Amino acid sequence: MSQFDELFQQSIEQPEEFWAKAAEGIHWIKKWDKVLDASNPPFYRWFAGGTMNTCYNAVDRHVEAGRGDQTAIIYDSPVTDTIRKITYKELQNDVALFAGGLKAQGVTKGDTVVIYMPMIPEAAVAMLACARLGAVHSVVFGGFAASELAIRVDHAKPKVLISASGAVEGKKTIAYKPLIDKALEQSDHQVEKCIIFQRDVVKADMQADRDIDWQELIKTSEPADCVEVAATDPLYILYTSGTTGMPKGVMRDNGGHAVAIHWSMKNIYDIDAGDVFWSASDVGWVVGHSYIIYGPLLKGATTIIYEGKPIGTPDAGAFWRVISEHKVKTLFTAPTAFRAIKKMDPNGELIKKYDMSSFEALYLAGERLDTDTYHWASDLLHVPIIDHWWQTETGWAIVGNCRGIEEKMVKAGSPTLPVPGYDVRVVNDAGEELPAGEEGNIVIKLPLPPGTLATLWRNEDRFLSSYMTTFSGYYETSDGGYIDKDGYVFVMGRMDDVINIAGHRLSTGAMEEVIATHPDVAECAVIGTDDQLKGQLPLGLFVLKEGVERDSEDIKADLVRMIREEIGPIACLRETSGVNRLPKTRSGKILRGTMRSIANGKEYRMPSTIDDPTSLDEITSALQGMGYPKT
Ligand code: COA
Ligand code: AMP
Repeated sequence: MSQFDELFQQSIEQPEEFWAKAAEGIHWIKKWDKVLDASNPPFYRWFAGGTMNTCYNAVDRHVEAGRGDQTAIIYDSPVTDTIRKITYKELQNDVALFAGGLKAQGVTKGDTVVIYMPMIPEAAVAMLACARLGAVHSVVFGGFAASELAIRVDHAKPKVLISASGAVEGKKTIAYKPLIDKALEQSDHQVEKCIIFQRDVVKADMQADRDIDWQELIKTSEPADCVEVAATDPLYILYTSGTTGMPKGVMRDNGGHAVAIHWSMKNIYDIDAGDVFWSASDVGWVVGHSYIIYGPLLKGATTIIYEGKPIGTPDAGAFWRVISEHKVKTLFTAPTAFRAIKKMDPNGELIKKYDMSSFEALYLAGERLDTDTYHWASDLLHVPIIDHWWQTETGWAIVGNCRGIEEKMVKAGSPTLPVPGYDVRVVNDAGEELPAGEEGNIVIKLPLPPGTLATLWRNEDRFLSSYMTTFSGYYETSDGGYIDKDGYVFVMGRMDDVINIAGHRLSTGAMEEVIATHPDVAECAVIGTDDQLKGQLPLGLFVLKEGVERDSEDIKADLVRMIREEIGPIACLRETSGVNRLPKTRSGKILRGTMRSIANGKEYRMPSTIDDPTSLDEITSALQGMGYPKT
């Protein structure tokens, strides 16, 4: 048996022994009583009885171990023409001081704090300061509109909101403060204070009674120490798209998260302390949480906070410039970024300008890695191209190629093998396991390993109904796919109405809820259509109310604007179309899956429950009239 196979088997058969050993990589104030408390399934608790502090493990212990002068964070911002290096010692000072400022505002263990920040080092400082105090952070991606921020504020009920005056997004400057003011006007919950980091690129108008200037706050604050928390206490809540307008608040604990994320750095990414690891994502996404902030810092590596794009800042050689300038060993990004580079520089001319000798591997995730992009990247970079599959819920890879243990042969189209800790199966709708090669629902046998979601924040019922009840004893991933005869997992796509736009997870259901509020719209459906650059794009189909006279071009423009304003520009809803009716089942359910297949040129079976089969002919010609399928 190979070394990987042996470790994998141990992780499944003796999970407590396996994870107890991995937990040695973390500093504990008090060791756990039980590695896995399985007394109340499916609410599994890892390292129950143990106490520790995540910020201490990510920052202070490296200073104490003599890494104080090593760079912890490289802030590389082509959009503001800035490069700044922060050592572990400086990071410790910054975090302790800002945590002191939060403490002075009354933030204590268990309080929630919402963070709405661009890609600047202060975003990391804010997250780590919360962890230092045992407060629970909830980072909201800066590309979400005010109403999405308001929804999260209402659910997370933060004592304090931390933000910056604005961001530079590609070539645009975006003022955050008007968005924050609007969100707080919309939300029922009111924060006690907003702490705003003023940037040179745009200045925020402050409200005297509520807003505090970050720099002023730290002038007078006392450094705060790390607070002892239980391993099972929450570290953060991260809202992610479900099938409705109300996002799911994935709750991650402190102990299990630190153990698993720390373990993954060496075993999945082959990263040691001192290596430079770059995750070109955003702190607002799970990739940002796990692999811009916590993973590299828990390992004592150097992480890069990149405020730029793969193209246009200034060109499609931006990634090669960062890799060569900072001697990056490993890059992690979404396939979309590579498709964008390929489109601008198909022959890879720009890479020739740079010394790429430090670069050892490219990791891709967030959406399916198409074989064209895989081969293009592989031919250009001459390093292993590692696809790995995971979700906000799991927090780290479910299936991947664990190069730190043993590199496996790659099969294009598959993220390779289940990672230690994950017992992955494929079942039919009745929950019966399917033979190799047959496509079905991908599920994971419980218990999930540490670091995965503990529950949904203040919504245990939804945690159970979304993930734990359809297939008893298994976690439902909502992804479909198959496992081949060699055990390689092939992930084919979501089985629900969640779509992936440029590696960003969004809900078509949420978009439908916005469109349905238009006074002229009787009903609507939003479906995900295949797109060569962004993977998927939403397409809105709507039926007008009887007697509406307005020009449908006006209505289309309204809908595009509404989605931008209510959800955010990242939803990228640019195309909508009026149709006479939507195909439905006899019980009135809109046949979104069938329409999706038609729009994407995939074969489909006529649903036996369809109300009127001619409605499908109508929708097929309407979609053809719009140029679908496009790819
Ligand atoms: N704040 C405000 N607006 C944002 C934003 C942010 N943080 N991020 C994106 N937007 C806006 C963009 O400005 C754009 O607005 P526009 O419609 O006015 O032009 C819109 O949202 C769509 O953005 P994006 O999807 O980034 O499209 P793009 O055309 O600007 O860039 C790519 C295309 C492929 C270069 C870009 O999507 C990309 O870098 N993708 C990789 C994504 C990634 O790394 N995901 C992480 C998951 S691992
Ligand atoms: P998110 O929660 O934003 O990370 O999105 C998770 C979803 O992205 C998964 O459920 C998949 O549908 C998709 N996804 C992520 N990584 C991959 C991958 N490597 N291959 C295929 N799909 C992926």
